[in-house]
Parts: sequence; structure tokens; C-alpha cells
Amino acid sequence: MRLLQLAFVVSVLFGLVAILIYIIGVSDLYETHRLTEEDEEALHSLRTGFQKCVAANGLGLKAALGKDYCQVTMQFPADTIPKWKDTKTGELEGLSYEFNLCEAVATWEQVRNSTTILTREFIDSLPNGWEDYAWRRINKGDRLNRCKNKTLCVEKLSLVLPETPPYVPRMFRRCAVIGNSGDLLKTRFGKEIDGYDAVIRENGAPIQNYTDYVGKKCTFRLLNRGSAKALDKVVELDESRKEVLIIKTTIHDAMNQMIREIPIKNHVYLLLGASFGSAAKGTGLKALEFGLSICDSVDMYGFTVDPGYKEWTRYFSEARQGHTPLHGRAYYQMMECLGLIKIHSPLRADPNRVVQWVPERSLVTAARIASEKLLRRVGAGYVDPLRMCSIVKKQIKLKLTSFLSLRRAAIDHQKYVKSATMYPLERSPRHGMLCTV
Ligand SMILES: *[C@@H]1O[C@H](CO)[C@@H](O)[C@H](O)[C@H]1NC(C)=O
Ligand SMILES: *[C@@H]1O[C@H](CO)[C@@H](O)[C@H](O)[C@H]1NC(C)=O
Ligand SMILES: *[C@@H]1O[C@H](CO)[C@@H](O)[C@H](O)[C@H]1NC(C)=O
Repeated sequence: MRLLQLAFVVSVLFGLVAILIYIIGVSDLYETHRLTEEDEEALHSLRTGFQKCVAANGLGLKAALGKDYCQVTMQFPADTIPKWKDTKTGELEGLSYEFNLCEAVATWEQVRNSTTILTREFIDSLPNGWEDYAWRRINKGDRLNRCKNKTLCVEKLSLVLPETPPYVPRMFRRCAVIGNSGDLLKTRFGKEIDGYDAVIRENGAPIQNYTDYVGKKCTFRLLNRGSAKALDKVVELDESRKEVLIIKTTIHDAMNQMIREIPIKNHVYLLLGASFGSAAKGTGLKALEFGLSICDSVDMYGFTVDPGYKEWTRYFSEARQGHTPLHGRAYYQMMECLGLIKIHSPLRADPNRVVQWVPERSLVTAARIASEKLLRRVGAGYVDPLRMCSIVKKQIKLKLTSFLSLRRAAIDHQKYVKSATMYPLERSPRHGMLCTV
């Protein structure tokens, strides 16, 4: 009898312990999203430093801090004359823009560790990758019936789909992204631009006849839909025939045919990307995103970022309809003051210009960790490098990239992520990633 009672007590105790473990476990999950004093301090320092940075480098822009940890409003001086009109509403562009610093720091820091080239491995690992995703990346995808005939889809993508990523994070040290603004003709940046380890250009930007201003080097060229359709013209701009062409939108049959028949020997890839909402849609921002995913540092030239905007022009052709120049200028200034990029422009022409009040790496990391908690991002509050993965798949085979020839920083990063590849998931609300390990 005694024994039975004892057994009963013991089992009740076990039950209680189990419940306790359960409760602690759950509250621990909750704890990971709670901001510590350190987190609050990091966000506070980031904001106050950010405000000083914008005042010191923004050529008249000011950042007003909102009520919570994250909101900032970028304000242009009241005497700024907006020129750009929304083609739909006819409204002039505004003089103030609200941004979410936490969102920006969390998402852009994630980009630095991401792979932004579409691979076969990615489509294969994505749940219903062929049915839900791949067919959308092929022009007239609707006629492919969700890749019901997978052979056909594979065939259409085959010329632009590497098995595994051709690039890894930190593969290049210093990179430059060159926009197409007419402002480029105001400063002879050519030599300076050629000094970067990799240069990323956009669409049909010519080099010949403009080398004093824009340099000669071109490692990557990012193409929108229009340029991708005129791929034959684009490759003519490239005397070396070594530029890597990266397509922002879909692949279509006309392009496949050109690649086969001309033939185009350049590597051609499709771009994957993070979701930044409406703030970042243009080719310019996509180029910065690609740059940040493969380079230690990214500098930008040839974007309309100086006061006194009148009309958007290209350095190589007639005036063209530009879009949201003030919004863009405010956004790039935010990026500079988060330590993501450095802006070069006619009014910021000194190559040794120091961006004042740019946050230290350690502060960015601390603020990023705090932001992830605040935004309830996947894996927020954990230290494991693979915590951000919401889908994990085995790598099919070893990466093709020869790691022996990689820079030290790239190898160190590979060690940190245990050789995993991390891809952004485009419509993932909590910004989980797809990882192959
Ligand atoms: C699927 O596509 C391939 C390649 O175009 C073609 O040879 C094959 O006949 C197609 N299969 C079906 C069932 O339609
Ligand atoms: C460079 O200038 C020459 C002579 O004017 C012209 O024929 C050529 O098409 C130009 N090249 C580009 C890429 O604009
Ligand atoms: C990205 O990788 C670096 C190591 O290369 C690491 O220090 C950093 O925390 C990572 N960032 C994110 C957002 O995981």
C-alpha cells in the first residue's frame, strides 16, 4: 500500500515537473522576443546617431524621430521644389518620407548573408518550387500550366539556371554600383570606379566614349525587362564579353534564342531578392541588394542624389521619365547612415570623404538583433547562424565554387554559416529564409 502511495506521489511529481518544463519552455520562447536593456540601448543609439548622420551628410535632409523605436521621417528643406509628378494622380512628390529603421536594418543585414542568384537547388528545395515559383519566372508562364510538363520548364530555364550559387557572401572586397544619371558627366569618376574589385552597371549603360566619367570596368550588369529583351544590343556594349548578365525579371523565349543563336557566351543568371515593400523596386536598389550580397562594401555612383533636381536625364541619352527622385534620395541617405553604402556624387566627389556618424559594425549588429525581436522575425533572439531558416534542405552536392580561391573574409563567413546557403523567400512575412546545408 505504502509503495503504491509512493508511486502515486512520484508520478504526480513527474507530471508537475513536465508541466513546469513546458511552461518554462514556452515562456522562454516568449523571452526571446523580449527586448533587454541592451537591445533598447542599441536601438536608441542607432536612432540618435542616425539623426546626426543625416544632418551631417544629407545635404539639407533632416531626420525627425518618431514616437516608437523605429520610425524616422526624412524631411527635405521647406524650400525644396519637387519636380516629379505621379503619372497616375498628377500629384507632385512630397518633401517628407517615413521609414522604419528597424525594418531596414533587419532586412538589409540579412541581405549581406544571402544568395541572390536563382539556382536549380533553390527551386528544387522550395515546396512546390516548380509549380508555384519557377513557371512565374518564365515569360508566358501562365501557358506553362504550372510546369505540369517539368521537362519543358527545365528546358526553358536551363540556360540561366546554375545548379548551385556561383557567388558567395563577401566574395569581393570593394564594389561599386553605377547608376545611369546624367549627373555622372559632372565629375570624372572613371579612374576611381575602375579601382573597385567589382563594378555593377545597369541596363544599356554604355562605357565606350564615356570612360573618363564612368570607367571601363564592368563585372556585372543588371537588366530589367526591356534590356533583357534586347540582350543582343546589351552584349555589344561589352567588348570583353565577360560581363555577367543578371536579369531582374523573367526569362523569355526570345532571350533564350539569342543566347543560343548569337551565341551569347556571357553568364546569364536570374535575380532573387528580399522584399523591401514599395520602397525598393527600381533597378538601382536591386543592384545595391545584389552588391551587398557578394561584397564587403558597396559604393554608389550615378544616382540622382544631390539637391537641385530638375529633370532626370541619362548620361548617354535624352531626358527620360525618371521616377520618385526625392523618395529615392531619402532612401539612399538612410542606407548610407545605416552603414550599408557610401554615396558618391558631384557634391560628394572627394573619394576620401568620411561619412560622419556612420554606426560602428557592433552597434549595427546589436540594433539588428533588437529589431529582429521587435519585428518577430523568424529565429529572433537565438544565436545559431541558421536560426533564420524557415525551410532547411540538404545540399544535393558540394558547392561548385572553389573555396581555395576565395578571399579570407568569404571563407570565414562560410565557416560561420557552416557552409549553408541562405536564400531570401520573397513573400515570407517574417523574412524566414530557405537554407541548404
Ligand atoms: C514535355 O516537354 C518536352 C520538351 O519540350 C516534350 O518533348 C514532351 O513531349 C512534353 N511532354 C508532354 C507530356 O507534353
Ligand atoms: C562612340 O562614338 C562613336 C563616334 O561618334 C560612335 O560611332 C559610337 O557609336 C559611340 N559608341 C557608343 C557606345 O555610344
Ligand atoms: C551574417 O554573417 C556574419 C558572419 O559573416 C555574422 O557576424 C552576422 O551576424 C550575420 N548576420 C545575420 C543577419 O545573420
